[in-house]
Amino acid sequence: MKLVFATGNVGKLREASEILGEGFELVSLAEVGIHEDIPETGKTLRANSLQKAKYLYEKVGCNCFADDTGLEVDALGGAPGVYTARYAGDDKDFNKNMDKVLYELSVLESESRMAAALGLKTKPVSRRARFKSVITLIINGEVKMFEGTLEGVISREKSGNGGFGYDPIFIADEFPGQTLADITEEEKNAISHRGKALRAMAQWLHEKA
Ligand code: IMP
Repeated sequence: MKLVFATGNVGKLREASEILGEGFELVSLAEVGIHEDIPETGKTLRANSLQKAKYLYEKVGCNCFADDTGLEVDALGGAPGVYTARYAGDDKDFNKNMDKVLYELSVLESESRMAAALGLKTKPVSRRARFKSVITLIINGEVKMFEGTLEGVISREKSGNGGFGYDPIFIADEFPGQTLADITEEEKNAISHRGKALRAMAQWLHEKA
């Protein structure tokens, strides 16, 4: 079965092909002649994922899927959330995005220390966070959504050269003491939010086939 994946990222395309396995041919946006940025104006990951998949389905008229991912940091009230890609600005600079998260957590921690020093009641700042991925699949006009979550904490500093995005500051519960950028691509794919959502989609497609 041929499926268009709303991505220009070859790494994501390869990961999805490996997870879906035999019987599925994944096609990138460039291969179907889509070179523009697909609009993402929703207020939630689900809305954005659906918006991207619908845009693609209307343009190419064939089976397709889109994903949207966000990082939620508890102490930041769930931010950056739907604004994960452009948290520190429209240039989508990963380093600036990570620095902003680290800075905001350090400010909260120093405020909490100051309050404690003044004898005020204060709760320790939680660095708990999670990645969430939502995939929307449109197959023969039917819309199906799949989700995957990866729980962890935000590290105190960046570490590692692998991965992309916020990987250097995210420590998954499964690999304590190492960020996602410290572990191998294989190790990350086995536990990742996107891996889980893709495997849920693969299972559904295989059951349907
Ligand atoms: P997208 O929806 O896949 O484009 O992801 C939105 C943003 O989330 C990206 O620009 C990345 O900064 C971040 N992101 C998505 N997936 C990951 C991941 O697996 N590791 C780290 N950051 C990610």
